[in-house]
Amino acid sequence: MKILMVCLGNICRSPLADGLLRKKVADNKLNVLVDSAGTSAYHVGNAPDKRMILTANARGVSIENLAARAFTKSDFKEFDLIYVMDKSNLEDVLELTDIENEKSKVKLILNEVNPGSDAEVPDPYFGGQDGFAQVFEMLNEATDRIIEKIKK
Ligand code: 4NP
Repeated sequence: MKILMVCLGNICRSPLADGLLRKKVADNKLNVLVDSAGTSAYHVGNAPDKRMILTANARGVSIENLAARAFTKSDFKEFDLIYVMDKSNLEDVLELTDIENEKSKVKLILNEVNPGSDAEVPDPYFGGQDGFAQVFEMLNEATDRIIEKIKK
């Protein structure tokens, strides 16, 4: 199974979701490939935001070796599940395909925590350090739910 995490810049939210899920997949010895991408190309090739690296490292998650890349149409074929962080990501990704089977792979990640809520992981980029810790808590819970689902 292959799972892709997607946000706008691929330097804050999706690298953390990627790092969290990778760690849990390894801890649980599951056969799942995890990657992340951004709907924009603003930060391609860059490491995650330093504030997100520090937030993750302080909680035992390593994301410092990830590098941003842009989402491409081929990701619809490559991945089984594509988790987006907010509704704007959802719209940007869905716009890239007309194929129903590909559209159905795309999900708001917090719907794994509260199904049908359509809640969003807020973009922490322009805010303070608190925002990064909040994003960590949200994505930690969401990735726990994803692991539980895979194990079933
Ligand atoms: P991300 O956060 O989508 O969680 O990686 C952002 C990072 C950079 C920008 C926006 C959001 N930016 O506008 O540069």
